[in-house]
Amino acid sequence: MKIGIDKIGFYTPHLYVDMNKLAVSRNVEPEKFTIGIGQSKMAIPPISQDPVTLAANAALEILDNEDKEKIDFVIFGTESGIDNSKSAGVYVHRLLGLNPHARAVEVKQACYGATAGIQMAKGHIALNPDSKVLVLGSDIARYGLNTSGEATQGAGAVALLISAEPRIMELEENNVYLTDDIMDFWRPIYSDKAFVDGKFSNEQYILFFEKVWEQYKAKTDLSLKDFEAICFHLPYTKMGLKALRAVLDEAEEEDKERLLANFEISRKYNRNVGNIYTGSLYLSLLSLLEQKDDLQSGAKIGLFSYGSGAVGEFFTGILQPNYREHLHIAEHTQLFAARKEVTVAEYEEIFQETLPIDGSTLELDVTNDPATICLAGMKDNMRQYVNKED
Ligand code: COA
Repeated sequence: MKIGIDKIGFYTPHLYVDMNKLAVSRNVEPEKFTIGIGQSKMAIPPISQDPVTLAANAALEILDNEDKEKIDFVIFGTESGIDNSKSAGVYVHRLLGLNPHARAVEVKQACYGATAGIQMAKGHIALNPDSKVLVLGSDIARYGLNTSGEATQGAGAVALLISAEPRIMELEENNVYLTDDIMDFWRPIYSDKAFVDGKFSNEQYILFFEKVWEQYKAKTDLSLKDFEAICFHLPYTKMGLKALRAVLDEAEEEDKERLLANFEISRKYNRNVGNIYTGSLYLSLLSLLEQKDDLQSGAKIGLFSYGSGAVGEFFTGILQPNYREHLHIAEHTQLFAARKEVTVAEYEEIFQETLPIDGSTLELDVTNDPATICLAGMKDNMRQYVNKED
């Protein structure tokens, strides 16, 4: 039985800041952000979007009534969760009107959470072939104004429907993974901003990739020539390029050219959204699938997941016949086209808006937010969500 990705949904907030303009206001050369970091636009979440609403909006796009009945497991990967106890998956389960006889949990290991969710989903489908599992990767990446991580912020979510006989990508076996207790990026429970040792994180990311890649080759006897493309977790798009370059010397010229050309396509969406942590690898996969129209079914795609702290995994998928028919290319083109630019001053103002933490009531005006599912306010320390279609 094949198990894998049957549908992929995506959502990013309707506002963005231009990285050239952010660079000017931070007194750095724009090329540092657009080439050195590899980012063109950064998604800005209004206060009416949080990781729950981003994920729910991403899932809303792909689920039909049959999916809603068959999903019996919701796995929400996030590292910017809204509650230290209750899972974000439970809110999404209600907002989407899923079958009540389902499990809903949250999984955490920095940017690796959604990958852990996918692997758990595969096991669940193997035992329950008629079920479907909804895996969500949703985050708001915040480092703070005027910090070195500022240019690598972003916001967005992916929703992956995992099932038997998947229509987009079969996920193969032979995964290799690695854990090492390091402090390259972390967020203590009392802080709403991440702490990061940026240079160390870059080094460890590449080291993890080299190690899992070596182990994968030893396990399978495959090499770079067997891959049409390799997609990477992209905290910023230059990061994946650095990791790819670290192994490219092993490849023949034509394989090198193909992998580099496909990497460029796989970073288009991320370049225009920024870091979405848990969803970043899958946004990159989506970029490749939707933006490369001659990608053949049967192609083998490598996927490198990295979650600081740290856990890394390399795994592979095979594109299924007619997979393009099951993508949402027009919707995503429209989502990007409809976004509105904000100035750096407006971004800073939005960044500093906060929700009450003293139990007081706040009602948010959601009429300016085009998303179907929004955060409408706070009451008695509870977030009030609204689905405008209900
Ligand atoms: N033109 C082109 N490139 C330029 C440039 C210019 N004018 N000015 C600088 N650059 C390049 C630098 O050479 C460097 O490239 P390299 O890394 O390939 O050498 C890149 O831009 C970044 O410059 P750097 O001085 O290293 O930036 P920084 O000290 O501001 O930090 C990060 C950059 C990425 C380390 C920082 O933003 C960060 O920590 N982000 C968070 C990372 C993260 O998310 N990690 C955890 C998840 S894996």
